[in-house]
Amino acid sequence: MEDFYDLVVKLTQATRDHERYRDQECINMIASEGLKSPAVKEMQAFASDLEGRYAEGDNNIQGHVKKRYYQGQKFMSSIEDYAADLMKSLFKCNWADIRLVSGTHANLATFKGLSLATKNRKMVVTPLSCGAHISHDYTGLAGSVLGLEDINHVYNIDEMNIDPDRSADVIRAAKPGIVTFGGSLFLFPHPIKELKEVCDEVGAYVAYDSSHVLGLVAGGVFQDPLREGADFITSSTHKTFPGPQGGVVMGNASDPRTEKAIKKIQYAIFPLSASSTHLGRLPALGIAALEMKLFGNELAKQIVKNAQTAGQCLYENGVKVLCEHKGFTQSHQIAVDIQAFGGGNKIAQDLEDANIICNKNLLPYDDQGSKGNPSGLRIGFQDVTRRGFCEGDIKHLCDLMLDVIKGKRTPAEVQKDVVEFKKGFNTIKFGFQNVQEALGYINKA
Ligand SMILES: Cc1ncc(COP(=O)(O)O)c(C=O)c1O
Repeated sequence: MEDFYDLVVKLTQATRDHERYRDQECINMIASEGLKSPAVKEMQAFASDLEGRYAEGDNNIQGHVKKRYYQGQKFMSSIEDYAADLMKSLFKCNWADIRLVSGTHANLATFKGLSLATKNRKMVVTPLSCGAHISHDYTGLAGSVLGLEDINHVYNIDEMNIDPDRSADVIRAAKPGIVTFGGSLFLFPHPIKELKEVCDEVGAYVAYDSSHVLGLVAGGVFQDPLREGADFITSSTHKTFPGPQGGVVMGNASDPRTEKAIKKIQYAIFPLSASSTHLGRLPALGIAALEMKLFGNELAKQIVKNAQTAGQCLYENGVKVLCEHKGFTQSHQIAVDIQAFGGGNKIAQDLEDANIICNKNLLPYDDQGSKGNPSGLRIGFQDVTRRGFCEGDIKHLCDLMLDVIKGKRTPAEVQKDVVEFKKGFNTIKFGFQNVQEALGYINKA
C-alpha cells in the first residue's frame, strides 16, 4: 500500500482535479445528476455543525417531529419541520418525510411500509429493461432485500410507455399491494390516471418514483402524480430537483387508509432503516425548494425544450433518437440508439474523451445480457439548461456530439472546442448566487 501521508495529498489533489474537470471543463449530460446553485452550496457549507448531529425518533402524521431520543434538539426539530413544510407546500400535499438520505432509501421505506400496511408482498413495476430503477426490481432492493414479488407492467416499446389496458389486466390478475410508476429511463408521463381505478379495485397503493422528474413536477410540467392518483411520491432531491443529495417521500394523510400507510412508512424509516438522517442537507433543500417555487416553471419548460431540440437535431442528422413520432420526449432526457455508429459503450467513451459526459444505456429491445455494450445512450439536459443553454446552444452542442459520433474529428480535437464553449456557461441560472440574495428576494416580495 502507498504511504499514508502520500494518500492524503493525492486524495486532496484528485478532489481539486475532479472539481475543475467536471464543473468547468466538461459538459455534463448524465440524466440522473443535478446542478446546485451557489446559494444551495453556500447553505450546505453553512450548516456544517448540523451535518454531524443525530435526531433519531418518531414523527407525527403531519410529518413533523413528535419525539427525539437525544438532547440538544432545540433548533434541530424546527429545521426538520420547516424543511418538511416547504416540501409539502411546494408539492401541494399534507405529509412529507425528509429523513430519507437518498431516493433508494425513500423506495426502501415506502415499499417496506406499504407491504406491511397491506400484508401483501406483490408489487407491479415497470420492467427493469424498460426503464425501472434497480430498487424497483426483484434483482435489486425490492426483491433481494425486501423479499417482494415483482410482477411487470406491460410495456409498449414503440410508445416508450406502460400499456394501460394490458397493465390493467395484469393488476387485476395479480392483486398486488403496491403498483409503481416512474423510472430511470423516463421519457413520457406514466398512465397513473388510467390505472388508478383498477389499483383501487384491488386495494393497491400507488407509489410514483419521481427521482428523475421531481424538478419537472415542481415546475408544473410533465405530470402531477398526486393529483393524477398516486398515493405517494418517492424521490431523490438532486436530479432535476436541484437540491443536495437526499431523499423524500410525500403524500396526503386524507383517510384511515393513507394514515395507516404513512405510519408504516414512518416505522420503516425509524427504527427500521435510518439512524443518522444527514440533517446538514435540510437548510439547502429549503433553498432549492425556494428556487423551484420561483423559477421552477421557467426552468422545467426550458429543460424539456432543450431535450426536444437535441432530439430533433440529432435525428435530422441521421442518428436514431427514439420516439420521433412523439416529439422524442416530454422530460429532461432523450434515448438514442447508437448501434449504427459502434454502440453505447464506444460512443459514450468517445464523448467522454471529448469532455461530453453522458451514459450508455440498455434499450428495451436490447439483449438484456449485453450490459457491456448496450445499443443506447441516455442524455439529460438539466445541467446544461441551468447553465443557460438555449436552443441555439443546444444545436451547437449537437454539432460537437455529431463530430464525435460520426468520427468526423477525433475526440481530442473536439475536446478543445468543448472546453472553450463551456467557458461561456459557468454562471448558474434559475437560482440564487448566494443566500443573502435569496433572502433579499423574499424581503422584496
Ligand atoms: C427512478 C430512480 N429511483 C431511485 C434512484 C436512486 O436514487 P438515489 O441515487 O438518490 O438513491 C434513481 C437513481 O438514479 C432513479 O433513477
